[in-house]
Amino acid sequence: MMWVREVEPGVFVHEHPLVKAKLTWMRDIHTGHREFRNLAREVATALAWAALSDARLRPRRVRTPLAEANGYDLDERVGLVPILRAGLGLVDGVLAVVPNATVWPVGIYRDEETLQPVTYYEKLPSTLPISLCLVLDPMLATGGSAAAAITLVKSRGVQRVKFLGLVGAPEGVRHVRTHHPDVEIYLAALDDHLTPPPQKPDDPPAGYIVPGLGDAGDRLFGT
Ligand code: PRP
Ligand code: URA
Repeated sequence: MMWVREVEPGVFVHEHPLVKAKLTWMRDIHTGHREFRNLAREVATALAWAALSDARLRPRRVRTPLAEANGYDLDERVGLVPILRAGLGLVDGVLAVVPNATVWPVGIYRDEETLQPVTYYEKLPSTLPISLCLVLDPMLATGGSAAAAITLVKSRGVQRVKFLGLVGAPEGVRHVRTHHPDVEIYLAALDDHLTPPPQKPDDPPAGYIVPGLGDAGDRLFGT
């Protein structure tokens, strides 16, 4: 797939120059939340193009102003599952290319001490009437939140699930691929490592992606 590199089986990193530049602006500590939010939306659109490159099509005839032609309709029912809260920052960008997708947010935060995911909101129907689910979260750190959301979606009968994120850590990629080897991961960057537990008062908290882009939820929402 042009511009998208499969860095290991099932793990795709978007390498389009515009994605690289936009992600760099997002990483920049001086980028304000308004610009950060716009960039997140734009990069999410690029990731959606990549993740939907195997979308199923249904042939149909179409009448142009000049003639009858063969064409296609998308033969997929797509569902989006953004992980609250930062996953919301990717929704509009994905909807730009699949405007008919259904959106089911799930609330999962990670406990600051244990880094374990805690589900605090989910209203998924018992069966999701979709053919493809895209789980959205900008940050794939330990992978606990993503794996928990994917488990939830699969428990509602969905067979095809993909994860879309801005930045991943090797630890998070490993965790998701170990628990869900069938789930492809689409990222704008695969970073170096996670921060260790802090030793000094001004060390960053544990489990942050390095170099990463900081707290994605805070930067998206200006908190
Ligand atoms: C962040 C991020 C992911 C999670 C990633 O959310 O948006 O959901 O951490 O970490 P993990 O891969 O180690 O699970 P956070 O828990 O800070 O909640 P928020 O989006 O409400 O800020
Ligand atoms: N959540 C974030 O927002 N950023 C990280 O680096 C890790 C988890």
